[in-house]
Amino acid sequence: MEAVKIGLLGIGTVGSGTFRVLERNREEIARRAGRRIEIAWVAARDVAKARAVVGDAIPVVTDAVAAVADPAIDIVVEVIGGTGVAKDAILAAIAHGKHIVTANKALLALHGGEIFAAASARGAMIAFEGAVSGCIPTIKVLREGLAANRIEWIAGIVNGTSNFILSEMRAKGLPFADALSEAQVLGYAEADPTFDVEGIDAAHKLTLLSAIGFGIPVQFDKAYVEGITALTDRDMTYAEKLGYRIKLLGIARRTARGIELRVHPTLIPASRLIASVDGAMNAILVKADAAGVTLYYGAGAGSEPTASAVLADVIDVTRLMRAEPQERVPYLAFQPDALSDVGI
Ligand code: NDP
Ligand code: HSE
Repeated sequence: MEAVKIGLLGIGTVGSGTFRVLERNREEIARRAGRRIEIAWVAARDVAKARAVVGDAIPVVTDAVAAVADPAIDIVVEVIGGTGVAKDAILAAIAHGKHIVTANKALLALHGGEIFAAASARGAMIAFEGAVSGCIPTIKVLREGLAANRIEWIAGIVNGTSNFILSEMRAKGLPFADALSEAQVLGYAEADPTFDVEGIDAAHKLTLLSAIGFGIPVQFDKAYVEGITALTDRDMTYAEKLGYRIKLLGIARRTARGIELRVHPTLIPASRLIASVDGAMNAILVKADAAGVTLYYGAGAGSEPTASAVLADVIDVTRLMRAEPQERVPYLAFQPDALSDVGI
């Protein structure tokens, strides 16, 4: 059977991880997808930098928006980030009949409505497991594992960078700025790290989790967002003395007025499992009516952990590409099924 061809937009932290894991696990991935998966070309701004990752065998293009028209490709994997070129390229790809895999939570949290509608109109699949909590299959859990449940609340550590900073400040007494620099070097931080430390990235992810979990429209603007920049050493010390840890939590829950979305630093008793989640790890608790409380834990950021989720999506989309449209339902554009208002 002919290989599935990917156009890989971006070959930075996540793109290079995706390239490496696909190379390394080529056979397993082909077996699980039912077809070989090949990267047709990669898009980057700096061709030399891209070549250092992919070598000479794979073409490097610089115009991502024009490239997605390539009739040879089936799936566009967008790991450029941001809401500029990434949005134009995804909308162009959908218009050209491609399926989409993206790790871009900012784009989907802000423009998901428009993008999902465009995809829906074309029968294109959009998969975005890599956009939320790195390698942890939280989207799959909410959409499939807990599909029979009514979700009551979702709460967790969904930003690796801020959790890394808080952990380094507490355990090593590292100043905030040094811990942030370390997170940037390790590839955890967003291109604009303000998104990480001001809680914006966590709110993007919470917005997506809530859309899937509660069946509400993507409404980032309704979230209450507070980051970790106002925290001081003294806050950490006093929290510790009182038997607590400070974590940046994203919390979404049903209230009488609708679904409440909030991100803010939270005091958690040190004895709780989630209080000991350190470094760039993420942990998400879900309370569902039938299943009760479940907990999901794993690397929330980084090159190969995120690639793991991106490639799982590529495998799923590949499996479903030849299926009847109704079988693609989980990956067809997200369809809100409730009219719940979101507010604090
Ligand atoms: P990087 O900055 O490491 O990589 C971005 C890539 O996109 C680079 O290859 C860059 O090329 C390329 N690029 C940027 N602008 C353009 C453009 N105009 N045209 C073509 N290529 C372009 O980002 P990350 O890999 O860290 O993040 C990518 C996405 O994944 C973001 O949406 C991020 O939020 C998300 N994400 C990141 C995680 C992480 O741990 N880093 C985890 C989960 C999701 P060049 O280098 O040549 O400029
Ligand atoms: N900057 C993000 C984080 C990357 O630190 O969690 C993973 O989405």
